Amino acid sequence: TLLVLDFGSQYSHLITRCLRGLSLYSEMLPCTTKLSELSFKPKGIILSGGPYSVYDADAPHADPAFFDLGVPILGVCYGMQEIAWRLSKENVARSNEREYGQANIMSQRHNSPVDRLFEGLEDAMQVWMSHGDKLNQLPEGFCTIATTQNSPFAGIAHKEQPIFGIQFHPEVTHTPRGKDLLRNFAVRICGAKANWSMSNFCDQEITRIRNLVGPKAQVIGAVSGGVDSTVAAKLLKEAIGSRFHAVLVDNGVMRMNECQQVKQTLAEHLGISLTVVDASQRFLDGLKGTEDPEKKRKFIGNTFIDIFEEEALKIEKKAENTPNAGKVEWFLQGTLYPDVIESISFKGPSQTIKTHHNVGGLPQRMIDGQGLKLIEPLRELFKDEVRQLGRQLGVHEDLVMRHPFPGPGIAIRIIGEVTPDRVRIARQADHIFIGMIREAGLYNEISQAYAGLDTNKAVGVMGDQRQEGYIIILRAVRTTDFMTAEAYPFSMDFLMNVSRRIVNEVDGVALVTYNVTSKPPSTIELQ
Ligand code: XMP
Repeated sequence: TLLVLDFGSQYSHLITRCLRGLSLYSEMLPCTTKLSELSFKPKGIILSGGPYSVYDADAPHADPAFFDLGVPILGVCYGMQEIAWRLSKENVARSNEREYGQANIMSQRHNSPVDRLFEGLEDAMQVWMSHGDKLNQLPEGFCTIATTQNSPFAGIAHKEQPIFGIQFHPEVTHTPRGKDLLRNFAVRICGAKANWSMSNFCDQEITRIRNLVGPKAQVIGAVSGGVDSTVAAKLLKEAIGSRFHAVLVDNGVMRMNECQQVKQTLAEHLGISLTVVDASQRFLDGLKGTEDPEKKRKFIGNTFIDIFEEEALKIEKKAENTPNAGKVEWFLQGTLYPDVIESISFKGPSQTIKTHHNVGGLPQRMIDGQGLKLIEPLRELFKDEVRQLGRQLGVHEDLVMRHPFPGPGIAIRIIGEVTPDRVRIARQADHIFIGMIREAGLYNEISQAYAGLDTNKAVGVMGDQRQEGYIIILRAVRTTDFMTAEAYPFSMDFLMNVSRRIVNEVDGVALVTYNVTSKPPSTIELQ
């Protein structure tokens, strides 16, 4: 296992992902992690970039014990400054100017072990820079292994020990040979084996879950019909069979006909029997008067858990005096890596973007370990990896390719208060939009699409009458990791046809718009 210590760069997760793409297993942990807290001895350590200056009073620093471990270390951007700064504060110069964008480096050979980082790569390479501070002198014992016109220390290496620093980001696609550089570090320098595969992961995960849950305990799982919860449910089914109970809570803000369809698909296709709990009234009542998106998320997240705890008791009661008798101790969620990063990155609450209800919005009692314990087998995976895992488990392609749908559902696709009539409008508009996307053969080209609703009213004219109605905001994006996204470039004809149908067929809509803003600065959901 390789260890990536995350200093908070927006690219940190790409290091892990890039390594996994090379069949190399790595774990990313916050830079505040102590060596003594690790459950494994890493074969090598990568210190990521970060938004700080090493001079900031609150700048994070790695546990010094990692540097005494004797395993290879690669510092990327802030990670390199961290290495240099530890050796002498004089080594790093504070700079108010950022260097951002493409640069060309020249790597230099020394005929020593330190050469191996650039082995097999061209001497001149295009790289991506994004940094403020930079090295102003070589740390003692180091030599230069790469330069650019602006920085004489674009890459450094210790003359004897396997410690490296690079100012550029090898993990982004704008550094075309970055992947090869990371492979050199992992394989040639750390001696890591490229033996990670989705089928290994699948087997390991099933065994891990079986051991974790033990021979008697039962697991209740939140299933939404989306690919994440379906794949997670299938893993649990494989691991513990009928001691796994899939439950879908109808929160009143699901899409049209969704609950029945999901129940049918899971039973027929995956042999998972799903209990649908109709709690729509409870949710819609509770959402009355709430406009603040974070309050909506918290309320929906908390109510979900309350309902699951109630269901857990019912399951235990039902199982009494059967071979399945045992406490429901675990709660399964299909949390993915991006949810984890965006909700609880080490940067702290001030930088939290949204509390995704399956991570940050959980009640304190769950985080404290009272009540149901969380089981999250997909926590380390990205969406495309979950799809791969789904295929590995035999999940049907239609389900595997389904667009994601957020836990708080249509509630966060309505700007303003959620009412049953507004849910009806958003639901009908969404149904038309998605149907038309499917008919046009575009569904799999788009990563996520929906119709949201702005509860401000626009003035329209219908049959010579002034008619006020809501604003429908269409959204369709392309993305690979859901951390950044671009609007899908529909033809104007297509959009006008969608608009015509929605305004004609959905009572209460005055106009339809298409959100073309990318993420960032926008997000995929409306709230
Ligand atoms: P944003 O809006 O943050 O969405 O750009 C990124 C991805 O996350 C999904 N999302 C959620 N999923 N609970 C979820 O289960 C949530 O609270 C939540 N908020 C956003 C969103 O649909 C998109 O795929």
